[in-house]
Amino acid sequence: MNATVYTPAYPHPEAIHDIAVLSRDELMFIQLERMKWSLRHAYENVALYRNRCIAAGVHPDDLCSLSDLARFPTTTKADLRDTYPFGMFAVPQERLARMHGSSGTTGKPIVVGYTHADLDMWAGIVGRSIRAAGGRPGMKLHNAYGYGLFTGGLGMHLGAERMGCTVIPMSGGMTERQVQLIEDFKPQIITVTPSYMLALLDEFRRQGLDPRASSIKYGIFGAEPWTNSMREEIEQAFDMHAVDIYGLSEVVGPGVAQEFIETKDGLHFWEDHFYPEIINPETGVPVADGEPGELVITSLSKEAFPIVRYRTRDLTRLLPGTMVPAVRRIEKIMARSDDMIILRGVNIFPTQVEAALLHCKWCSAHFQIELTHEGRMDNMTIHVEPRPEAWNPEETSHRSREIIKTIKNTIGVSVQVSMKEPGMIPRSNGKVTRVIDNRAKASSILA
Ligand code: DLL
Repeated sequence: MNATVYTPAYPHPEAIHDIAVLSRDELMFIQLERMKWSLRHAYENVALYRNRCIAAGVHPDDLCSLSDLARFPTTTKADLRDTYPFGMFAVPQERLARMHGSSGTTGKPIVVGYTHADLDMWAGIVGRSIRAAGGRPGMKLHNAYGYGLFTGGLGMHLGAERMGCTVIPMSGGMTERQVQLIEDFKPQIITVTPSYMLALLDEFRRQGLDPRASSIKYGIFGAEPWTNSMREEIEQAFDMHAVDIYGLSEVVGPGVAQEFIETKDGLHFWEDHFYPEIINPETGVPVADGEPGELVITSLSKEAFPIVRYRTRDLTRLLPGTMVPAVRRIEKIMARSDDMIILRGVNIFPTQVEAALLHCKWCSAHFQIELTHEGRMDNMTIHVEPRPEAWNPEETSHRSREIIKTIKNTIGVSVQVSMKEPGMIPRSNGKVTRVIDNRAKASSILA
């Protein structure tokens, strides 16, 4: 039997391999052609997009330049939930090659779908991302992102195979075994959440192994916010390069934007397949490049699940490309608007706490933030662990004071600190839970 050839419907499919040599003008030409195709495809096949456009008085034919996109309505996670399971799909079910989903923290999951051409495009951008991170054909890649409905495991797997790497499909968990297999198989690349990389680091040390002597030289870390202080922590501990990968299920999965190993200066956005905008999260109005705001993404080539002006809730800004001049970069994403804690009028993101803690040389990167409500006051307690080699119970109160002072000076709020013995703070197997919000619990007991 002959292998089936899947011809994508979007214009200029060949450009996928040429991003490095495209000029900005050439890229913008391709973007406009693809955007026209994608908006029409969404309009003709997804009732929600069609109804929204009609209500807003716009039609895909009104798109004459890239900036006209701002006239089209945005899409939110609630829209995806309301149309669960298949209301946003734009192709008949028989054309789907794969489905993924995200469980979300509350309510119904989000379901997304891919045609064979979508999987082909995804493999291309993840492969490109791995190359940007230092990966080369023939290298072994230990993939510790979770396999399953989550896009991390299978998305990285697909791109790594496309790149010509040998994939070790570990998934998350079984930490002891992960370390054993890293020692035995000697992969050069690891793909994993930064928080789980820290759990692997603990395990290396527990087994009496020197992480700096391990075979791993390149790490591709994403799926959760992480700071440059955390990068330094991981790079030092393993004597490796740590670079950032960004993506989300609603848009495709990992590989929407990628940091280059040479510059580590934010993530190049693969603009030949996804169009980024930054908007003011309050007004919804686009802001100029360089200005901070919420990232909004439109797919340019997806068949099964086109996404138009999706509000990611991720906060960043657009910067000019460095390694690939045709595309723009996004600044490392330090925050989601959802994760913002408002404590006594001060806005705080968990990454600010991470940076402040790692400022204290004896402090490890394992931490959790607990919010409580006592009387009329919201309180924040930061549960921290010293590094195992720096553990000394006699230092507890003096060190707690040091953290309280550092956080007061850098973030501007008063917090409480609960110092734990090394190993006591729960470790992640994938995405870490940084904030435990017990405020509602306290008020419902009082009510
Ligand atoms: O986390 C896809 C992914 C897998 C990306 C593996 C990178 C590596 P979701 O589960 O849908 O998909 O979660 C998407 O995670 O909107 C961001 O808030 C956050 N996120 C993803 N990558 C980064 C990153 C995957 N590099 C949500 N930095 C996104 C900060 C990130 N946050």
